[in-house]
Amino acid sequence: MMSGHLPDGKVLAYGTATASYQVEGSTNADGRGPSIWDTFAAKPGTIVDGSDGSVACGSYERLDDDLALLGELGVAFYRFSIAWPRIQPDGQGRIEPRGFDYYDRLVDGLLDRGVAPMATLYHWDLPQPLEDAGGWPARDTALRFADYATTVHERLGDRVQLWATLNEPWCSAFLGYAAGKHAPGREDGDAAYRAAHHLLLGHGLAAKRLHESGAEGVGIVLNLTPVWPETDEANGAARVVDAIHNRVWLDPLVHGRYADDLLDLAAPLRDDDVVRDGDLATVAGSLDWLGVNYYTPARVAVADPDAGDEGGLGQMTQAYPGLADAAFRPRAPRTEMGWEIEPAGLEDLLVQTAGRVPGVPLLVTENGAAFGDDERDADGAIVDPDRIDYLDTHIAAVERARQGGADVRAYIAWTLLDNFEWAEGYTKKFGLVEVDPETLRRIPKASYRWYADHIRATP
Ligand code: FCB
Repeated sequence: MMSGHLPDGKVLAYGTATASYQVEGSTNADGRGPSIWDTFAAKPGTIVDGSDGSVACGSYERLDDDLALLGELGVAFYRFSIAWPRIQPDGQGRIEPRGFDYYDRLVDGLLDRGVAPMATLYHWDLPQPLEDAGGWPARDTALRFADYATTVHERLGDRVQLWATLNEPWCSAFLGYAAGKHAPGREDGDAAYRAAHHLLLGHGLAAKRLHESGAEGVGIVLNLTPVWPETDEANGAARVVDAIHNRVWLDPLVHGRYADDLLDLAAPLRDDDVVRDGDLATVAGSLDWLGVNYYTPARVAVADPDAGDEGGLGQMTQAYPGLADAAFRPRAPRTEMGWEIEPAGLEDLLVQTAGRVPGVPLLVTENGAAFGDDERDADGAIVDPDRIDYLDTHIAAVERARQGGADVRAYIAWTLLDNFEWAEGYTKKFGLVEVDPETLRRIPKASYRWYADHIRATP
């Protein structure tokens, strides 16, 4: 099923994913430095339940439990992320060897069980000292990221073949620096555009270094969204959402440029002190594969205050600096996140994206759903038919996209464990496995059994 660094695509390869800050806990162990999420979560009012990732699922200390679950699930690969502040507590310079040991053991444990490791280098836990020095709106952060990526590849590149540089840079840039909903919690549209460019530059520089060291499986993970205008009147707003959400990444990655309509909105991207000569050439053509995370479509309408417009992406129009008078209109049914359930959105997105990045294999790097999980079987395990249905119908949508010609190689379910869901704290549960908040004991849900059976039934 795996040919070299990528799944061969003959059948869909299955995986599951987590992220360091969401599962590891032990945020003060073994010399780990503070990240922007530790700082952000400590501020009152940022996380709905006032929680943070200091305990999370305790995965840092329960590696064997997680490995056993992954082995039994039978996934082809496990997508996890590496916490930069464990490797470089200051974000640059000094390496903390104890931080590396955990990932060494994780990678070896996966390989022992026949699970291919897929390492995400940055899933949002920026070392706090780098934010203090300007964060992603500062160019230097991109250079530091490339150094860190090189260090990690030197240590794990003999065993890890699949590398994701960044997870969802849209969230880092626009939720983190424009909407203030994610760490570091700034509300400055121009800073968000500078961050977007430096995230892309960091990706491009890191990919170049990894390729020079012989890596062949380097990609980026984007939360692309299908954008569906509700009416003809909303076509203009939909184009802007597509520009700020999707094309801001895809145009530089594929064509080495920002589109004119985006440049019209985003002054920092017209500033040649920000976008310097050679930057876009570094970003272009850097992908061996593209990761697509999908949860819900964006239905865009012209805002109507009388209609009590609310945002399906969470009152998020602030996250689209330059977008005026638009609203998101999610339909029913919705998950606990308020996100519309629409598998056709995934099919549409994959077919459209395949056309936008010709020749680049696609992996669905995240897909899943938060539900109430309030039903249990006689043994006390959660029975979650809604989640099973969500996974089943979305996997079918991926298969339709494949039949429609999209080169989609893998489907990765978000997520192995109920975990720290960022600004939602522990209130939203996406896991295939429940984690008892008192004991941190892992209790597989019906969806875990269903996924294991589905994987086994795949030829
Ligand atoms: C994505 C994130 C992931 C998780 C899911 C629900 O945006 O990449 O960490 O929180 O959403």
